[in-house]
Amino acid sequence: MRIERFLDALAGKAIEDTLGVKAPAILRPTQDPKHGDYQVNGVMPLAKQQKRPPRELAEKVAEALRSHEAIAEATVAGPGFLNIRLADAWIAARLAESLKDARDGVPESETKQKIVVDYSSPNIAKQMHVGHLRSTIIGHALVQLLRFQGHEVIGDNHLGDWGTQYGLLIAGLRAFGGGDAAVASLSLAQLEGIYVEAKKRAKDDESFADEARRELAKLQSGDAANRALWERFVAITRAENDKVYERLGVSFDWWKGESFYEPMLPGVVDELLAKGLAREDQGAICIFFNELENVPNKLAKQKTPFLIRKKDGAFLYSTSDIATVEHRKSLGVERSIYVVDSRQSQHFEQLFGVVQMLGIQMQLEHVGFGMVLGSSGTALATREGNALTLASLLDEAEARAAVGVREQGIDISEQDMPKVARAVGIGAVKYSDLRQNRLSDYQFDFDKLIEFKGNAGPYLQYAATRGGSIFRTGGIDLASFAPASITLTEPAELALARQLAKFADVVHAAADTCQPHLLCDHLYAVASDFSRFYEACQVLKSEGATRESRLALTAITSRQLRRGLTLLGIEVLERM
Ligand code: ARG
Repeated sequence: MRIERFLDALAGKAIEDTLGVKAPAILRPTQDPKHGDYQVNGVMPLAKQQKRPPRELAEKVAEALRSHEAIAEATVAGPGFLNIRLADAWIAARLAESLKDARDGVPESETKQKIVVDYSSPNIAKQMHVGHLRSTIIGHALVQLLRFQGHEVIGDNHLGDWGTQYGLLIAGLRAFGGGDAAVASLSLAQLEGIYVEAKKRAKDDESFADEARRELAKLQSGDAANRALWERFVAITRAENDKVYERLGVSFDWWKGESFYEPMLPGVVDELLAKGLAREDQGAICIFFNELENVPNKLAKQKTPFLIRKKDGAFLYSTSDIATVEHRKSLGVERSIYVVDSRQSQHFEQLFGVVQMLGIQMQLEHVGFGMVLGSSGTALATREGNALTLASLLDEAEARAAVGVREQGIDISEQDMPKVARAVGIGAVKYSDLRQNRLSDYQFDFDKLIEFKGNAGPYLQYAATRGGSIFRTGGIDLASFAPASITLTEPAELALARQLAKFADVVHAAADTCQPHLLCDHLYAVASDFSRFYEACQVLKSEGATRESRLALTAITSRQLRRGLTLLGIEVLERM
């Protein structure tokens, strides 16, 4: 059950019943557990509105709330808010329910949407960088969270596979990269090298730059040889990226890169011209927000135009993103989530503004994220000081995980070690990213990656296996364990139970606000509360109803940790 939701409704009804008006309860968890579990803040604004004494009104609401079995205490505090403490028995009953539920007590959302999560989306002929790693990890977690809410979710890898760089690549390949035949054996790093060199050359060599433009025009008009080269560039990049996706355990439903939208681009520009939203400026076609009417507020004074066709006739990233929204709309997509570096926020602000002006109804969200910094606050580098590729980052994480697992004294055979090192190393990389508020930059520190204590992936993976080993020791089946009722008395039991009871609210909040770190925080709190409980209370050695109840807390802890980590895309092992 979503307890917070339930209480919000309950308090709302108490306000309506006692005060005769419908008003939001404004329910929040209390800051200090001394005062209770939740606070109702909705009475004060209401009293002000009605010019009635707030504490008096709050007392009436408190009285109504006290009559419900869920509420142990409801007291008026301060200028007129209410503190609520939930009844221990009621919490215990909800937990017993969750143990019988295949979804661990998390209901689906009431309204289901068709949602595209646009994530990872690296560019062709370039190695993925850590920014794409963040997008991939966060995007994948969001896909799973939203899917668990019951939405129809499409993970879309919107590859940067079209644009002026292909003219440069083709010209470079022919001028100094070994020619068309060489493409068969090029690695991604070599391809990237050709691109970098060609870009340099085009700067000082006008005839080479012309050559590149000609090759691009030929590619765009369907020249067979150039088309074949482009296909190879895409294939080389995909093969390399697929290895990273494989290691991360990430897959996509769509691979509609920018090239997919290419045929639609002239139509997009025509439409914007016809609607008077775009105009010509020195040969280019632009949208000038500061010249238009009915521009969304944020953009009204924006001087930076949205460029949709260059002077030479080339279309841009912006043009293909408009086409992308139109295409998604035609397929019934109701919400698009773009998991892209925060530095692209202006692009998305402008894109969303254009979509709105075109009258397309779709919920659009830019789920931005900060940069990944090295431990000294600078760009990430290897121990030798070289720039870090994703593959080498993952290699190092796995190597360190193997060492960490041995140091921790975890009993793993030589044969199982690669699998465990991968799960722990990759899990640690993912968790260290996901636990951050995604909007902040974060420091990636190899020395703090493999931690079996504190808010880190390996600790949570280990915590997720503890329940299983307790049940194995007791010879009880964890998967089917569900006692008829749970009784809680010890403070450590109650603290753990109160945290566990938040699971459904947390999962929905993390999904609704696209903030996976909310789930990480919960899982860490659960693991910590479980440790304190396990230190304070005997489980297998206790008896009767106490034993059943403590086993139940252990089982729910284990299930939430497993479910939560799995939703975040982090592998959970059976034993550690
Ligand atoms: N390829 C872009 C980049 O690497 C990200 C694309 C994000 N998705 C989108 N629909 N614009 O920066």
